[in-house]
Amino acid sequence: MNIELLKAEFIKLYGKEENKPQVYFAPGRVNLIGEHTDYNGGYVFPCALSFGTYLVVRKTQDDVIKFASTNFSFKASIDLNNITVKHSNHWINYPLGVMNEFIKQGGKLSGMELLFSGNVPNGAGLSSSASIEVVTAYALNDIFKMGFDGVELARIGQRAENLFVGVNCGIMDQFASAMGKKNAAIFLNCDTLDFEWVPVVLSGYRLVIANTNKRRGLADSKYNERRSECEKAVDYISQRKKIKNLGELTYDEFIQLQDAIPEENVLKRARHVVTEIKRTKDAVNELKAGNLVKFGELMNGSHDSLRDDYEVTGVELDTLVEEARKITGVIGSRMTGAGFGGCTVSLVKEDAIDTFIEEVGKNYKNRIGYQADFYVADIDDGAKRLE
Ligand code: GLA
Repeated sequence: MNIELLKAEFIKLYGKEENKPQVYFAPGRVNLIGEHTDYNGGYVFPCALSFGTYLVVRKTQDDVIKFASTNFSFKASIDLNNITVKHSNHWINYPLGVMNEFIKQGGKLSGMELLFSGNVPNGAGLSSSASIEVVTAYALNDIFKMGFDGVELARIGQRAENLFVGVNCGIMDQFASAMGKKNAAIFLNCDTLDFEWVPVVLSGYRLVIANTNKRRGLADSKYNERRSECEKAVDYISQRKKIKNLGELTYDEFIQLQDAIPEENVLKRARHVVTEIKRTKDAVNELKAGNLVKFGELMNGSHDSLRDDYEVTGVELDTLVEEARKITGVIGSRMTGAGFGGCTVSLVKEDAIDTFIEEVGKNYKNRIGYQADFYVADIDDGAKRLE
């Protein structure tokens, strides 16, 4: 991203003033393992990417907040008194939701001019929306001196998405965007928000992200359906052992209690969650021990469980993963994010990357009928002020 060009665009839009605009950035994320576990009080293991959302912002003397983006043509000027109203245009609800959360926390905002610019592929499941929320939260916190830490900013972003945008997501995406660290993944307990940065040392391997380019369609409603199936599982299990969420069950306890769940679908969802939490903890230990091949096997297990038990993959993601696993030099491949489309992440030997992109790309196009996109991922820092 060329920051000078972006600032020039800002000046073109809003004019030059005494007080200079400030520039902030928050990244998208890729989750390495631990999928659909965050809203079950389990573990996740995401990392921040080098692409995300930039925000150029300047305070003004009046009570008007002006929104613009280089990604969408829609612009808006909204009076401070009206920011509690959800807007009919989709994208500005992310920053609006965050502003609302700031006000609820006792923050006093003034007028502002905002220009957003994102380079996360939209709708690819790499958390472009979380990056908009987090960059807004980070900037407001800095400009209005609210004193929140990164974890609190992540929670503000999540609440904006849950309460204002209306998507019932967990904490993973906003947490990764706010708290990411270069060359490390975040081992996060989503129940307590205790976390640890674990160095991602890939010696000779790289993370390759492949985008199905499938339109997301029913993703949000299916996501909410999975959440309620997990809640049902908690109710059934609680008849035998009182639990608040599935993340409290060890694998052995689950094996003993699973016959309390009479519905096949609900049982499968719970089995995914409990086994995925175990895989995530095991994967982190394997990575710490330098056992990349084992880490890759657990990634494969994660995808298979998301395909067979959680049923959130679909033919596009399964095809990418199947084709990836045929390539020599690939030691793990799985879907990442909510599923139903979006991206896969694969652990690929450096000298196999060209073949990977060529072969998987060609075979995907042949089988699905349209192209996939590929990105060799760099793990980078979380939200920050650039200038
Ligand atoms: C989406 C949500 C996250 C998480 C993942 C699945 O990315 O925003 O909170 O639930 O799906 O792991």
